[in-house]
Amino acid sequence: MQAAWNRPHILELASWQPWELDLVLQTASSFREVLAGRTKKVPALQGQVVTNLFFEPSTRTRSSFELAAKRLSADVMNFTPGSSSLTKGETILDTAKTYLAMGADILVIRHQQAGVPQFIADQMDALEAGVRVLNAGDGQHEHPSQGLLDLFTITSLYDPENPRLATLRGKKIAIVGDILHSRVARSNLWALLAAGVDLHLAAPPTLLPQAFGGLKPTDSPGCLTLHWTLEPALENADLVMTLRLQKERMTAHLLTSLREYHQAFGLTSQRLQGCREGVKILHPGPVNRGVEISSELMDDPRFSLIQDQVTSGVAVRMALLYLIGTYGEEAP
Ligand code: CP
Repeated sequence: MQAAWNRPHILELASWQPWELDLVLQTASSFREVLAGRTKKVPALQGQVVTNLFFEPSTRTRSSFELAAKRLSADVMNFTPGSSSLTKGETILDTAKTYLAMGADILVIRHQQAGVPQFIADQMDALEAGVRVLNAGDGQHEHPSQGLLDLFTITSLYDPENPRLATLRGKKIAIVGDILHSRVARSNLWALLAAGVDLHLAAPPTLLPQAFGGLKPTDSPGCLTLHWTLEPALENADLVMTLRLQKERMTAHLLTSLREYHQAFGLTSQRLQGCREGVKILHPGPVNRGVEISSELMDDPRFSLIQDQVTSGVAVRMALLYLIGTYGEEAP
């Protein structure tokens, strides 16, 4: 018998068990059916309030959490830092407490500083507020909903009716680009290693420190290999994920030029020739066209899963909001 969901908050994927990943995939698959139906909506979170606290810019994550919450019939509040009382010196915690006082049940938090969602979750637990917290990306730490929507996208490729971890075992997946600054790479790393993937990371040495090689948990069924050139990572790869070069987080001069970076690590159709036939490309977005990936490859439907990732985001975020929003309720 499968264990019951037991997380009030979703803050990272590093500690997740394979059955939890599979439960999210199954739940998201059910919500994908709902979204394909006529009404596209279920009453699962009717009366609950979901608050998007985004202290850092976002297009995909914020909008898809909003849509996911609405599809679950929750009420949604959106916080915009530039026009909020943060500008008058209010703290993040007081902001969260203000939304709590208005009846927020779930706080979806993005912040440029790693650890902020965990901090707010701890404070809410200390207040015994019963509020759930969902990390929508914190600094260079994790972006769990992105890791899960990527997992849903690729497992759906191998079995659209029944996406599950087992279909990824032994597949070669390359993650290429600005791994150092990427919370997406970290969340994907935990999920893909738990799935038993043969995972290859590739970047210039300044964006892929040796220490990443030590991240693989000893009990994980996956393999982890680091490369400082692109070709060995792409050789016979089933899937390739390229990452945005995070110019806003580059405090040191870690690259000589964007042009040289594209020449050495930018994905193009030509570069995919060493990959397995049928190779697919992922990118979490937003994309620097012509830097980490050529415009032509990004828009090529034979290879690109980028729009599928965005579509998957709604069903996966519905699953996450549903699981934490109904956590602790008696099963019907
Ligand atoms: N992938 C991602 O987090 O995109 P946004 O910054 O647009 O939310």
